[in-house]
Amino acid sequence: MHKAMNSLKSVYLAMQIKAASLTTMKVLVIGATGQSGLLIISEALARGYEVIALVRCPEKINIMHEKLKVVQVDILKSEEIAENLKGCDAVLSAIGGRPGIMTPCDIYSKSGEAVVKAMRETGVKRFIAITAWGTKDDPDLPFVWKWVLKPSFLRNIVKDMEIFEDYLLKECSDINYTVVKPPRLTNEPSNGEKIIAKEGQCIANVSNAISRQDVVRFMLDNITSQDYFKKLVSVAMSSEKK
Ligand SMILES: NC(=O)c1ccc[n+]([C@@H]2O[C@H](COP(=O)([O-])OP(=O)(O)OC[C@H]3O[C@@H](n4cnc5c(N)ncnc54)[C@H](OP(=O)(O)O)[C@@H]3O)[C@@H](O)[C@H]2O)c1
Repeated sequence: MHKAMNSLKSVYLAMQIKAASLTTMKVLVIGATGQSGLLIISEALARGYEVIALVRCPEKINIMHEKLKVVQVDILKSEEIAENLKGCDAVLSAIGGRPGIMTPCDIYSKSGEAVVKAMRETGVKRFIAITAWGTKDDPDLPFVWKWVLKPSFLRNIVKDMEIFEDYLLKECSDINYTVVKPPRLTNEPSNGEKIIAKEGQCIANVSNAISRQDVVRFMLDNITSQDYFKKLVSVAMSSEKK
């Protein structure tokens, strides 16, 4: 009897492993030609995922892979996104505006609205996007961020990030979004350390910088996790201030 139960258990386990290996995750990436976007593509491919990169300049992508499809679209047109979104498990956004005191910015909010519209049409539920620490005020924000960068050449970008976040919070309860909010981004390689994540505008007493690779790692690690569903989550790397 015991022997029969054990062999049944191993058959069940084998079936589970088989089912898992048959399901390939498929992700759609926007902002795919940017520094973080390119890392999302490489990391997703390294994990064996299928990747659809929606871009405005396909020539900026020099990654060739059988599981990567690069499509030129207007990211503000939801129908063009929807056409490519069918069958995807998640949308990952690394869209970013251009800094400048007089440079207008609405790319976060407008692309966000177009993505959500396309998600609703196609039934895709998971959306992970990057904004930044401190789109709203917080006493723990770094001085330079609060008093120098945010009021000057990042002001229009941050304002639009805030509009995008508010839109998700107030109008997208049907979407499993996670907004990943990093401090300053670097191009350092990830050293594989555990990423600190906390709901809110920033994290106190940590380094004010994180590598793009770590942010990307956090995004991909959380595609199937429900931990940060419908949350704005700040990320950081170390418990020591640098
Ligand atoms: N830099 C930092 O220290 C820092 C800190 C915190 C948060 N962040 C945020 O982190 C995210 C990733 O930053 P990053 O520096 O890795 O990105 P990035 O290199 O600036 O890339 C931005 C991406 O957005 C795309 N994009 C911009 N406007 C677009 C438009 N109108 N239509 C289609 N695509 C458009 C760009 O496409 P093209 O290649 O076609 O221009 C590019 O793929 C951004 O949201 C950024 O604001 C940055």
